[in-house]
Amino acid sequence: MKNPLLCLLAALLFAQSVFSQSRYVILPKPAQLTEQSGQYTLPAKPVISVEATDSQARSIAQLLADQLNKSSGYSPNITTTKAKNGITFARAKGAGLGAEGYTLTVTPANITITAEKPSGFFYGVQSLLQLMPPAVFSPSKVGGVSWTVPCCTIKDQPRYAWRGSMLDAGRHFMPVPFLKKYIDLLALHKMNTFHWHLTDDQGWRIEIKKYPKLTQIGSVRKQTMAGRYADNKYDGKPYGGFYTQDQVREVVNYAQSRYVTVVPEIEMPGHAMGVLSAYPELGSNPDKIVEVATKWGVMEDVLFPREETFQFLENVLTEVMALFPGRYIHIGGDECPKTQWRQSRFCQELMKKEGLKDEHELQSYFIRRIDKFITSKGRRMIGWDEILEGGLSPNATVMSWRGIAGGIAAARQNHDVVMSPSTYYYLDYYQVDSKTQTVPIAIGGFLPLETVYSFDPSVSDSLTADQARHVLGVQGNVWTEYIATPEYAEYMAFPRLIAVAETGWTPQAGRNFEDFKARLNWHKKRLDYMKVNYFGAPINSTFTYQMPKATAAK
Ligand code: ACM
Repeated sequence: MKNPLLCLLAALLFAQSVFSQSRYVILPKPAQLTEQSGQYTLPAKPVISVEATDSQARSIAQLLADQLNKSSGYSPNITTTKAKNGITFARAKGAGLGAEGYTLTVTPANITITAEKPSGFFYGVQSLLQLMPPAVFSPSKVGGVSWTVPCCTIKDQPRYAWRGSMLDAGRHFMPVPFLKKYIDLLALHKMNTFHWHLTDDQGWRIEIKKYPKLTQIGSVRKQTMAGRYADNKYDGKPYGGFYTQDQVREVVNYAQSRYVTVVPEIEMPGHAMGVLSAYPELGSNPDKIVEVATKWGVMEDVLFPREETFQFLENVLTEVMALFPGRYIHIGGDECPKTQWRQSRFCQELMKKEGLKDEHELQSYFIRRIDKFITSKGRRMIGWDEILEGGLSPNATVMSWRGIAGGIAAARQNHDVVMSPSTYYYLDYYQVDSKTQTVPIAIGGFLPLETVYSFDPSVSDSLTADQARHVLGVQGNVWTEYIATPEYAEYMAFPRLIAVAETGWTPQAGRNFEDFKARLNWHKKRLDYMKVNYFGAPINSTFTYQMPKATAAK
């Protein structure tokens, strides 16, 4: 373009398109957003009004006020009288917004959020913050910002009720402050479920008062694999860590105030070497010395379906249910080798007695017993899709991870399912091609952002409309074999988890990857203020935690 005027015009058009695009950048994308001209300017003394009897709305208003105060230095006042020029929270009864829906109306004069339930207000606030300048996410005061909100009307509600992420604290312990940050990031993206993987072969990480050896012995491994599995090298350093029950309550309460439900996972009957190191009598042989695993993978030592084991598990689950008030208790159920059961006279006799034709049915017997116990306490059991093998327990919800087949099979049996296929939602997989680029070590598999975004959880080709109603939603999983630190967990989870969030929230017809990418680009400014080490973040080089050694994949 030689003509300087044309150049100027092009530059102006580009600037305008970036500006107008950045005026309404909300992730996940709302179901309906009508842009309007004009803007609301936050007054120096913002007023947020809530209904006098609405204590939950008040708590959410307080979260908004706190964030505005931190970033702008303004001191919002929360009142119960409707304010001119203010931000108003109003309950909208029977407006068809559902449990998590909201409307957000921004005019030059005021802002109104309506919702039927508190979670709707909470999500209205998340959208409102994303309509403000990115600096609103700063943990400290930012000067020179014009605190404006572009006018619009939003009517929004989620596509799916379960929008979650699993974080594996078993392979690597994740400290409580990081869990809170992770929960904040879930909430920012309107995700409502934090699946906390608390026990595994490589460590038991939750205090159980009745069984202190679980954490005294089961939470510590002698050493950890260093580098790739195939190298079979170890760091020679003991590794441990667990959450006290007080810390668990702290995390659960924190999550609750952000409308995130915490789902604990207690693995059984496999992935149990943490338990067996402390209580070997629950496995194949009470005299067998089982150590907390130092290797990754699937282990042969598993829990045995003895009465003592069920008693133990019921006692553990009783303490777990007292700590986690949510509806779902995850019992793992994945990757349980059957070798020891096959070789055990006890197991073979039990199978005969119970009329079980193979070890898969024995696993099903195991899970059914646990299901019955959890159901008797008014909760719901959820497990990985292996719980389908040998017959699905009557009240089980299935988390489909080995692709989508398990989810489809369960929905066809009228069981609820959460879609979490490794092929789309395993955020421990490489996000760039490790064959051509040198990146920190990951567990294998290649899962770029676009692939994550491309998943349609409805699997509508395979289910009738009635069956499709059993798809509760979506979940992105962060397994931590190769993810030793919070920073690295952020690097692997983000931005891919935001793509998961949008697949779970936004109607399929409203989604487009190019549009998502453009919004994400702007959104990264917010993540920068929150010091999120997303893949490609400019703050990468400033980490205090050590990143795993960078190696190209073999
Ligand atoms: C799993 O990835 N083993 C559920």
